[in-house]
Amino acid sequence: MNAKNSAKFGFAAYKDMKGKLPSLYPRIVGPNAINYLKEIIDNGLTVDMVSRFEREFCKVMGVKYCISAPGCSNAILALAEALNFNPGDEVIFSPVTDYGTIMGFIKNNCIPVFADTAPGSINVSAETIEPCITDRTRAIVVVHKMGLMCDMDPIVELARKHNLLVIEDACQSIASTYKGQLAGTIGDVGAFSFDGEKTMGSDIGGCFITNNETIASYAKFRCQSRGAEMKEGFGRLHTVPGSAIRMPNCTAAINLAQLEILPDNVAKRDRAARLIAEKLETIPGIICEKIPGYQEVWSCWMMGFRIDPNVFDCTADVFSKECEKLGITGAGIGRYYLMPEACTFLQEYAGKKIYPYSMPPASREYRYGGDTCPNAKKYLDNWIRWSTICEKYTEEDCETVYQIVKAVAEMHYRK
Ligand SMILES: Cc1ncc(COP(=O)(O)O)c(C=O)c1O
Repeated sequence: MNAKNSAKFGFAAYKDMKGKLPSLYPRIVGPNAINYLKEIIDNGLTVDMVSRFEREFCKVMGVKYCISAPGCSNAILALAEALNFNPGDEVIFSPVTDYGTIMGFIKNNCIPVFADTAPGSINVSAETIEPCITDRTRAIVVVHKMGLMCDMDPIVELARKHNLLVIEDACQSIASTYKGQLAGTIGDVGAFSFDGEKTMGSDIGGCFITNNETIASYAKFRCQSRGAEMKEGFGRLHTVPGSAIRMPNCTAAINLAQLEILPDNVAKRDRAARLIAEKLETIPGIICEKIPGYQEVWSCWMMGFRIDPNVFDCTADVFSKECEKLGITGAGIGRYYLMPEACTFLQEYAGKKIYPYSMPPASREYRYGGDTCPNAKKYLDNWIRWSTICEKYTEEDCETVYQIVKAVAEMHYRK
């Protein structure tokens, strides 16, 4: 095994970024974080901050159960383990997402099937999901990318018709709302990330929420208590192969403090995202997704726009580099978000019929690659994004974004 050029996370991924816009780091930390951490230490580690955070998160989300974890990848891993689908069962995913959305189900030998995005959108729709449903499908995992919500009513209706679970990955959309409902509370399960870069950025952390008592209690037993039952006169009996996927107590303390400042941060991000989208829309050849009519709050984690290749004489790569050079901190392309292309191991496993692609448990042949989701590929090929947008953006910063994109556009209109 060779040393690889590994990806960076958190502050390490941001520390060399320069530009004219506010930096995400140092993050604004809720004023109570220090008190909660002190409480844990002053009480000799007897304070259960994890349960306190879970209760508060449930209250804010209006749900019954919260299963916290060391991150969203791990929360979905716990969920997948608790759902205990059969090897070779299929789970439908949004194709444009972070690896953390799919990791847990892959590790539990499920087969990911990527629905294409709706034309002109970064999100999936009921229409793009429906053709992916087979008799092996067990769940649909939708991602509300960049804080923009999927149209959930038709998706939930489709899922109910086929008796499928709906899981919302709300990592990039915490506190966004769809017809008055919070992201992550519309389907059966919602998943969240509190990693340092996220809107509710803590040191790390994540969770899933649900009103389903069976899923919640089994996840706690199997994925947090390591599947151990207490037997009189013996002790721990491991009746299922469990895990220890738990949020650390001090992390919960910071998360609790970050939850308290979430509404203010989201309101600021919403304002900035709308203003930028409004301004960019006026630049010929620039296509910026706006907040859909069914959505009220835009909890924007990442901002982006597409360039019309018929209008400009350069690629998104060149366009984004120039935006970055002129001052949009962290501007770049985002092709890596296309999971069927980015997960080269899926292409290899499916091609070589490595378990679970061996038959059985797979019920048919699978193929991965960018061309399997042509709408998503076309979208991302022309997409420029930056995840440094944050609660620190002022109106002047939004104007700076507009001026930079306009300047780059003017350098590249086709003659
Ligand atoms: C949409 C989405 N899903 C899942 C994850 C994984 O979250 P975590 O880093 O907390 O494991 C992320 C984080 O980048 C994400 O953006």
